[in-house]
Amino acid sequence: MPKINRRAFVATAAAAATLATPYIVQAQTQPVPPPAPSPPAPGPFKQPPLPFAETALAPVIGARTVALQYSRHHAGYYTNLNSITKGTPYASMTLPQLVVEANKDKDRRFFNNAGQAWNHEIYWEQFTPGGARAPEKRLLELISVTFGSLDEMKNKIVASAGTVFGSGWTWLVHDGSKIEIVNTAGGDGPLTSGKTALVGIDVWEHAYYLDYENRRPEHVKAVLDNIINWDVVADRLKA
Ligand SMILES: [Fe+2]
Repeated sequence: MPKINRRAFVATAAAAATLATPYIVQAQTQPVPPPAPSPPAPGPFKQPPLPFAETALAPVIGARTVALQYSRHHAGYYTNLNSITKGTPYASMTLPQLVVEANKDKDRRFFNNAGQAWNHEIYWEQFTPGGARAPEKRLLELISVTFGSLDEMKNKIVASAGTVFGSGWTWLVHDGSKIEIVNTAGGDGPLTSGKTALVGIDVWEHAYYLDYENRRPEHVKAVLDNIINWDVVADRLKA
């Protein structure tokens, strides 16, 4: 192996650094393209289409976060479900039925994937553009009676979301007579307690980390203040 003296080594390293610098600068300033959408999962469980463009929720939820969460995380739950339920009684159930039935199963793969598939359906739907930007009528009355004001309810949801340890969800739910805020862990949601999901706030890190790093409360507040379609929420209350 040829010997390289110190002067030659320094000169070579400097030249390499000079060559590398433009590439690094270019790499840092190039926008990162969103991931290509995954092909639809074959099987009975179909991921609903995203009801808006991936850019529609920005800057509250960035396009890359939407793309990754919808096309990778959410899509993956259907791929897994279609694979593991093949040939089982679960394959002929609706997704909500599967969530409830799989919650009795010791094998948590069914519940975890079905729960997360359903939770994200609730999640995307509530951001559909075009509806009321604030609660109205019966929903607003219920909020005022229960929490004092809309702002107070939002504060309580933000605070509750801050107490979820690790991955989970914070929900505004209706139990048939009143509305309340509940947290669920992992892929669990209101279906397992028989409550109606009105608003679902995803506090898995994949929902906010690219945009907010560890500032979960900031993300939750921005979601509640800016991108909820309160007509969708009111319709869930009527259902
Ligand atoms: Fe998520």
